[in-house]
Amino acid sequence: SPSDDALRALPKAELHLHIEGTLEPELAFELAARNGVALPFASVDELAAAYDFADLQSFLDLYYATMAVLQTEDDFAELTRHYLRRASEQGVRHAELFFDPQAHTARGVPIETVIDGIGGALDEAERDLGISGGLILCFLRDQPVASADRTLSAALTRRERLLGVGLDSAEVGYPPSLFQDVFARARAEGLHAVAHAGEEGPAGYVVEALDLLGAERIDHGIRSLDDPALIERLARDRIPLTVCPLSNQRLQATPDLALHPLHSLAEAGVAVTINSDDPAYFGGYIADNFIAVRDTLGLTSAQAEAYARTSIDASFASDARKAELR
Ligand code: ADE
Ligand code: ZN
Repeated sequence: SPSDDALRALPKAELHLHIEGTLEPELAFELAARNGVALPFASVDELAAAYDFADLQSFLDLYYATMAVLQTEDDFAELTRHYLRRASEQGVRHAELFFDPQAHTARGVPIETVIDGIGGALDEAERDLGISGGLILCFLRDQPVASADRTLSAALTRRERLLGVGLDSAEVGYPPSLFQDVFARARAEGLHAVAHAGEEGPAGYVVEALDLLGAERIDHGIRSLDDPALIERLARDRIPLTVCPLSNQRLQATPDLALHPLHSLAEAGVAVTINSDDPAYFGGYIADNFIAVRDTLGLTSAQAEAYARTSIDASFASDARKAELR
């Protein structure tokens, strides 16, 4: 099977990464001190020790609390710079970054501060590291639809910065159908659409994301296996799933990685990619996810190359850029 170095060297696209989920404890404390924000932990070690999650919600509680240290445009740029440097070392050549503007605007941070900070660092990485990419604005599904609607309107002042919209945060009880109108408005602006579905929630949420939101990719989607007709549809229509093995393990969606459905989905003909979700919290970046899969499920060189190639094909990069990356 392929070496760690070989897995890192494979050219990949990262399609499921929350930029706020790349906030490492060290940087969190540095920004907390710089901005005079109190973290509910005494030290880097104490914060890192809290990364022991029972489910998605227990992670989200810590994720939203910690990101309060992000205040200025430079904070967002620094966070993104740190991530892109690590991503480059892990073989990422194209990165589509999720961000959660409502989690920042609720704290009084203007959306322009968020978008300009992340976007500026992406421009630098394109120049200095040869990484292409863009931003996907995620609506928080456990917040009111009216808030998502206001967020989209505010973000459209930076329309040229956005690749698309997505849907994240607490899943169960917040079906995609709630967000049908705001997704329709985003698509009318020419934005791509993706959605988290079938992480903890049922396969029916994946069907809703496809039918009602026009989602072009499904983030996670592992619960699709409960519905054979859906699996057939995903395969036939080449709807990619952005799967995150270490995240699924840490959030107890699939506690035993050796039983993870990654290969089963691929063998059923679904376009599956390997991604990192919130790497600072889940114990690894994208190549670390490939390595964890190799060590638990097994991963041949041919399989690893296929997953990496699928990530490039499933990206929103231009055809010219895809040809360059393959
Ligand atoms: N926000 C950040 N990571 C998430 C995940 N894995 N699921 C839903 N919302 C998220
Ligand atoms: Zn996610």
